[in-house]
Amino acid sequence: MELQEIETYLQTWVSYPHPLLKELTDRGKAMNFPIMGPVVGQFLYQLARLRRPKVVFELGSGYGYSALWIALGMEEGEIYLTDKDPRLLEMARENFQKSGVRVTAHFLQGDALEQFDRWEGVPDWVVLDIEKERYPEAYDRIVPRLPSGGFLIADNLFWMGKVLNPRQIDPATEGVRAFTRKIMTDPRVLSTIVPLRDGVSISVKVGA
Ligand SMILES: C[S@@+](CC[C@H](N)C(=O)[O-])C[C@H]1O[C@@H](n2cnc3c(N)ncnc32)[C@H](O)[C@@H]1O
Repeated sequence: MELQEIETYLQTWVSYPHPLLKELTDRGKAMNFPIMGPVVGQFLYQLARLRRPKVVFELGSGYGYSALWIALGMEEGEIYLTDKDPRLLEMARENFQKSGVRVTAHFLQGDALEQFDRWEGVPDWVVLDIEKERYPEAYDRIVPRLPSGGFLIADNLFWMGKVLNPRQIDPATEGVRAFTRKIMTDPRVLSTIVPLRDGVSISVKVGA
């Protein structure tokens, strides 16, 4: 069974906690925009319902799709969305407004890592979805700021299967490989790569 087949099958079982999420899923397809998709979205929603993070910082938010799944699971607290593209961030703002979600959303435009460095808060969760070549650098900057029990969630750990092919050498694939090495070997975190869609990692901070 191919991963794509599994994804399609799982997608038939997704239930949307808000009708706007279905609309935004369809919009991603129509725009050919790389959202995390409903299977990962529902997983993050479930995690958020279970853990109830109060402060979430997402690096690479696009039009707010993955952030909205998480925000609906949080119910209350604060979520920071970042994107270098002001038009996408404006769409994200409109989508959050339309959803009526109760969390306070902040929209930070510019380089997500620079925004994260400038921000002085303590995140319960950080969600990483920027250029893959920058994942290792992002890891080094995020982990020291996570409190014990804090989550680092990252998308695209399979990078469309490229990480599995040893002959595939390019900056993005190497970035995902280096990031994977870090999350799986660093004693400060306990990580699992969940094989949903393009692979999503959950790393929990367990040591200083
Ligand atoms: C794959 S999309 C993810 C969207 C979102 N996480 C979702 O699943 O709905 C990645 C987004 O990150 C943005 N991005 C990539 N690198 C970035 C960076 N260094 N700083 C800010 N935004 C970035 C892109 O403009 C794009 O909108």
